[in-house]
Amino acid sequence: MCGILGFSGKGPVRKIISRGLKALEYRGYDSCGYAFLSEGVVCVNKKTGKGGTDELVSEIPEYSDRRICVISHTRWATHGKVCLENAHPHRDCKNEIALVHNGIIENYARLKKELEQKGHIFSSDTDTEVIAHLFEEEAKKMPFRKAVLKSLNKLDGTFALLVLRKGCSEIIGARKGSPLFAGVKGKDFFISSDINSIVNYTDEIMFLEDGDMFAIGDEMEILDFVKKESVKRSFSRIKSGVQSTAMGNFESYMQKEIFEQPAALVSTFNSLCKELARYMEIVDTVPGRITIVGCGSSWHAGLIGEYMMEKLLRIPVEVEYASEFRYRNPVFLPDDLVVSISQSGETADTLGAVKEAKKKAKLLSICNVHNSSIPGESNYALYTQAGPEIGVASTKAFTAQIAALYFLNLLLALKMGLIKEYSLEKKIEEFSATAKKIRCIFSMLPDMEKIADKLKDKSNALFLGRGIHFPVALEGALKMKEVSYIHAEGYPAAEMKHGPIALIDENMPVVFISVRDRFSMKVISNMREVKARGGCIITVSDYIDDDILNISDEIINIPEAENEYLKPLLTVIPLQLLAYLTALKRDCDVDKPRNLAKCVTVE
Ligand code: M6R
Repeated sequence: MCGILGFSGKGPVRKIISRGLKALEYRGYDSCGYAFLSEGVVCVNKKTGKGGTDELVSEIPEYSDRRICVISHTRWATHGKVCLENAHPHRDCKNEIALVHNGIIENYARLKKELEQKGHIFSSDTDTEVIAHLFEEEAKKMPFRKAVLKSLNKLDGTFALLVLRKGCSEIIGARKGSPLFAGVKGKDFFISSDINSIVNYTDEIMFLEDGDMFAIGDEMEILDFVKKESVKRSFSRIKSGVQSTAMGNFESYMQKEIFEQPAALVSTFNSLCKELARYMEIVDTVPGRITIVGCGSSWHAGLIGEYMMEKLLRIPVEVEYASEFRYRNPVFLPDDLVVSISQSGETADTLGAVKEAKKKAKLLSICNVHNSSIPGESNYALYTQAGPEIGVASTKAFTAQIAALYFLNLLLALKMGLIKEYSLEKKIEEFSATAKKIRCIFSMLPDMEKIADKLKDKSNALFLGRGIHFPVALEGALKMKEVSYIHAEGYPAAEMKHGPIALIDENMPVVFISVRDRFSMKVISNMREVKARGGCIITVSDYIDDDILNISDEIINIPEAENEYLKPLLTVIPLQLLAYLTALKRDCDVDKPRNLAKCVTVE
C-alpha cells in the first residue's frame, strides 16, 4: 500500500504536496513524510499518525524563479512498527539519498546482510531502507542514474519508488508491480501512485508501466530498466474525472457513502443497461464456467453473484479468494470466464489472480476506478458508478458491485435466451424501486441507535443468514469488526450448531437475516436454537409474524425487495448502519480504522 507523490517544478508546492498526501491517505495513514533538495542538500521531514500534513509541509521552500524537486509518502506499515525511524523517506549512510517506496522488497533481508557486511548502517526495520543503501553502494562505482538502473535489477518483489540525491536536480523513479502515474503542466511534473492526487493540477497523464525507470528534470526521460533501452511514451489528455470528495454536511465519509447508496445503485445499473447492446457484442460467448475472484467485501459480493448466477443461469460458478487462487495453479477449462471484482482496481492479490488467468480464460472485471490496473489487464470491464469511496470500510462500492453482478446475470440470461429483451425495462423499474426502498431503512436510524447502544459494550457478535443472505452476514460481520473493533463472525445460519453455538450465552448478540423466502422457517428454527441458549437476537427481516415477534429481542423491519436477487441490497443496509453507529458509540474513527488501508497493494 502506501502512497507516493513527487513534484518537480515551480509554484505552490506546499499545497500540492499537502493536498496530494491527503488524497493518498486512503493508501495508508500510519505516518507521512517528504524530502526536497535545497542548495544541493537533501532535507527530510516526517511525522507519525493521521492528519497534520498542512503543518508538516510548511518547511518546504516555495520558489517562483526556480524548480524544486519534492518526493513524499504516506505509509501503511509492512516492515517495522509505526515510528519516525520507519516512516519514509529513507536515507543512505551519508544522508545524501532520500527515497520513498510503495511495495515490498522480498529479498531485502539478504541484501541488508550483504550491505551491512560492507559497512552500511541501517536505522529502520523497513525493507525500503535497503534500496537507499544499495543505490549508495553502487553509486560508489558509477554515475547515480547507472547505479539506480543496476540496483533495480537486484530487487525482488514490487515497487513504485522515487529518489532524490544530493547534487542532482532531478527525481529518479521506477515501477514494477505497483501503480505509478506521471502528469505534466507546462514545465511542472507530477508523479503519483494515484491519478486523483494530481488531477486537480493537470489532465495530461502518462501511465507508467512495469520496467519503467525515469528521470524528471527539465524533461522526463524513460528507460526500460530490464532491457536497458530508452522507451518512448507520451502524455495523453484524460477526461477530467475529478469527482467531488467533499464530505458536505455529513459527519464522516462512511455516513455519507452509506447515504449515497440509492443514487450510486441506480446510476450503476442504468449506465450498464444503456450499454447493453455493446456488452451483448463483447461478451460474445456464454461461458461454460464462471470463476469470481476478489478480496474482502468484493469477495462477499462475488458470493452473492454466485447465488444469483447459479440459480438463474445454471452455469457453475466458483468464488475464490484472489490470494489463494493466484498461487493454487488453478485448472482452467476452455469456456471459462474469470470475473474479478475490485473497488480500487489495484488490489495486489486480485491483480495477481487476473494475471494468472490471463491468456488461459476470458477476463471480465467489475471495478469502480477507471484507468486502474485490474480493468487494464482484463478483456472487458463493467464499471460501477459509486463515485470515489473514501471511507476505508466499503459500503456504496459493495452494493454497486452487487448491481453490476445483477446486470451481468441479466446480460448472460439474455444471451442464453432465458429472458427476453423487452423484460429488461421491467428489471430496470424493479431495480430503481428497490434502490428507493433503501431510503425507508434510513428512516429507522433512531431505532438502530438503541440497538447500537446494546452492542457497544459487547466483545463479540455473530451474524447469521442462509442462501444469498449468508454472504450478507459475512459482510455485516466484516463491517462490524473493521469499524467498531468488536470481534464479529459471519456464518451460514445452519452451520452454527456445528461449532459456534458453543459461544452462545447472554453476552452474545446474534444478528439474524430472516427474509421471506424458502428458508424462512429454517432460519426461525436456528433463531430458536440461539434463544434456547440465552443469546440476544437482533433480527433483520422483511416480514413480521408471531415467530419473529416472539423470538427476537430487537427487530429491524425492512421493506421487501422487488425480487429475490435484489434482497441483499436491502438486508445489508441495516448491518452497515449498525456497524457505523456502534463504532461511533465506541469513539472509533469510522473513516480510518486502525491498521487498515483502503487500497491493499501488497500481497
Ligand atoms: O479495492 P478492492 O475492492 O479490491 O478491495 C478489497 C478489500 O481490500 C476491501 O473490500 C476491504 O475488505 C474493505 N476494507 C472492506 O470494507
